[in-house]
Amino acid sequence: MRVAVFGTKTYDRQSLEAANTRFGHALTFLEPRLDADTVPLAHGFPAVCVFVNDLVDATVLEALHAGGTRVVALRCAGHNNVDLAAATRLGIAVVRVPAYSPHAVAEFTIGLMLALDRNIHRAWARTRDNNFALDGLVGRTLHGRTVGVVGTGRIGAIVARALRLGFGCEVLTFDPVPDEALLAEGVRSVDRATLLDQAEIISLHCPLTPETRHFIDTDAIARARPGLMIVNTSRGALIDTTAVIEGLKSRKLGGVALDVYEQEEGLFFEDLSNEIIQDDVFQRLLTFPNVLVTGHQAYLTAEALAAIAETTLASLGDFEAGRPLAHQLSPPGT
Ligand code: NAI
Repeated sequence: MRVAVFGTKTYDRQSLEAANTRFGHALTFLEPRLDADTVPLAHGFPAVCVFVNDLVDATVLEALHAGGTRVVALRCAGHNNVDLAAATRLGIAVVRVPAYSPHAVAEFTIGLMLALDRNIHRAWARTRDNNFALDGLVGRTLHGRTVGVVGTGRIGAIVARALRLGFGCEVLTFDPVPDEALLAEGVRSVDRATLLDQAEIISLHCPLTPETRHFIDTDAIARARPGLMIVNTSRGALIDTTAVIEGLKSRKLGGVALDVYEQEEGLFFEDLSNEIIQDDVFQRLLTFPNVLVTGHQAYLTAEALAAIAETTLASLGDFEAGRPLAHQLSPPGT
């Protein structure tokens, strides 16, 4: 099948080409992100392949449809960037990769938590400058602390287990569909208010939906325990960044580690080291010593890339052959 692969990076190309030796699709690798300006590049391609920050709204879908595209393959799990109702109306199938390596994201989450809690990021910068002083690097022991895990699906459940069984934390979870197996292991399911009241660390692993948007906002921060540490490896808009900045300035928040950012489109995945960043909120965030930001790399392991490529190309093969699509997305409520 002819596939236009948008937002291609070297690592995408390598993993897709390696997997494609088994599928034989005709892959055209394009560097731009898909949006209303770049959608003409997809003209004539029956399939397009996109990632988290490509824009697949109704306007883009209508242009894709007019150009002959019939399937959009997301090489990721989250799909908040796709208008599924518009895709269904236009008869465009949307497939995703529901799980490629939840362990990759969960391990990175724990890595961020430890790095921030123990000031590893600051220590690394200091020792490179022959500064071996320890002032300002006092951390907190993770053992025995109360961690709130929001969303206990594939990724959140691994994080909760690692914290409970590996580090001896008290783990509170908030999920409309509690994971009974986790609860049997001593993890407690609580409501949002209790999680905010009791957690010393909150790790976000729920999808971005209208209900979860700004899960961490001014009110949540006001309610939280002083010194709360927040880790977000899910989706940026789960956090109201402006409220978080106020929480950091007032010292109500003890630290924030983010792999995702509300306005990350146009920032993340690009080398902007020679540019002047125009996003003042993001730039302010980077100035805090107790903020650690990575550029949406929690998923980025060799194993995850191989699994993403395999599932994406298999779904496109199924679409081409008219077979049922195991990973097709439907609009909410259908
Ligand atoms: P999943 O679908 O297995 O689990 C999501 C969980 O969130 C489910 O248990 C669901 O019941 C729960 N949930 C739904 N609504 C909720 C609400 N209002 N409040 C609390 N919990 C709620 O998803 P998975 O695979 O664990 O991924 C979680 C998120 O991680 C994805 O939605 C995606 O946005 C993000 N992600 C980030 C990556 C990165 O590289 N930073 C890579 C992969 C995923």
